Amino acid sequence: MSVKITALEAENVKRIKAVALTPAPTGLTLVGGNNNQGKTSVLDALAWALGGDRFRPDAAQRDGAVAPAHLKVTLSNGVIVERKGKNSTLTVTDPTGRRSGQQLLNAFIEPLALDLPRFMEASDKEKADILLRIIGIGTELHTRDMEIKALYDKRTFTGQLAQQKKHFAEELISYPEAPDEPVSASDLIRQQQDILAHNGENQRKRSQLAQLTDLLERQKKVVADLEFQLSTERQRLDTMQADVKIAQTAAADLQDESTAELEASIRDIEETNRKVRANLEKSRAEDEAVQYDSEYKRLTEQIAQKRADRMALLNGADLPLRGLSVEDGALTYKGKHWRDMSGSDQLRVAAAIVRRLNPDCGFVLLDKLEQMDMTTLQEFSAWLEAEGLQAIATRVSTGSECQIIIEDGMVKDANTTLPPVTEKPQPKSWTKGAF
Ligand SMILES: Nc1ncnc2c1ncn2[C@@H]1O[C@H](COP(=O)(O)OP(=O)(O)O)[C@@H](O)[C@H]1O
Ligand SMILES: [Mg+2]
Repeated sequence: MSVKITALEAENVKRIKAVALTPAPTGLTLVGGNNNQGKTSVLDALAWALGGDRFRPDAAQRDGAVAPAHLKVTLSNGVIVERKGKNSTLTVTDPTGRRSGQQLLNAFIEPLALDLPRFMEASDKEKADILLRIIGIGTELHTRDMEIKALYDKRTFTGQLAQQKKHFAEELISYPEAPDEPVSASDLIRQQQDILAHNGENQRKRSQLAQLTDLLERQKKVVADLEFQLSTERQRLDTMQADVKIAQTAAADLQDESTAELEASIRDIEETNRKVRANLEKSRAEDEAVQYDSEYKRLTEQIAQKRADRMALLNGADLPLRGLSVEDGALTYKGKHWRDMSGSDQLRVAAAIVRRLNPDCGFVLLDKLEQMDMTTLQEFSAWLEAEGLQAIATRVSTGSECQIIIEDGMVKDANTTLPPVTEKPQPKSWTKGAF
């Protein structure tokens, strides 16, 4: 069982003349009253009694008091804490009646519980660090955060490259009419040589025709001159005439091909190849842009995965309060940063975390709860009860929500003499009926 405050008696501490308080064992106990009546002095007295000399108020002794300051706090584990005498000497008595000191108290008193504003005013990062320390996943979470940051930076760089490549590819000119592959000059020259060879063959056939024609002419002369050889020669003549006819037919079908187109192609080769190279460069740039795009998507998936890991780590941790998390090194509750939380959520978060710092300490002290409306007070009190936590709080109010009202350093409507410790008044508990 965590330790609660069972009773406080204080005399001549700061603004207090004489105050006795028996807080409810769990939930919210409100100390009400107008300004400057001594409400905060009650919390200061408790903090001094339990927290030791570092919590000693600057002007601990009430001005004009005849008797020295006197404090007595009874705790639920049976320990009794007293400060009395000219030097406000501390006496701690354990349940067996043995005298002890501050060290015994330090085992179950959490300093932040006595000074919750110190936690509440800490930076987002300090709060996050406290939370991570108590749930014990600080370094693991830090590693994940670093990995996410590295991936994120890499993705940003990749995204910029993808954009640059895309723009570069868009600006490059392309030539749809150019062939896919660079043209080879040797191919064209070989084609030209083939044609020239073919044409040479035609030329040979033409010279053959000329030769035969020449022979025929001569033969005619020979026929004329050599009548006696007529019969023989006529036969040769016939043969030759037939040859000539064949050669004539062959020659009539002959057609020369032009090399003009090829010559033009050879001339255009530089220009064509320039276009081919331009097209290749453009398509390469497009390919790269697509690759960077897919790399960007892959990094996005990795980041999502790491974030999920990190969430799982936090979800798997034993959090002091459901909905607490750490995002970018700052504490969050239900997704909100400290400055965006409602006042009551801030109190709940602070109380839950401080409680976890020392689970044996079952109470927190809260000053200035004026900003809370009745519904919020009730919800907060119900939460405290469910958590088994005791809160002693002050509020500028003389309404019925307050368990006691402090006026001029005393409990209003109470005797100035403190009741004997054995005769405990029934604690007033915070229920809906109290309103
Ligand atoms: N040692 C002291 N003796 C007498 N009055 C004091 C002492 N210390 C502070 N005060 C006075 O107490 C008042 C504040 O008391 P506090 O408990 O803070 O009141 P509350 O919280 O009800 O507004 C101030 O007027 C301050 O001057
Ligand atoms: Mg005050």
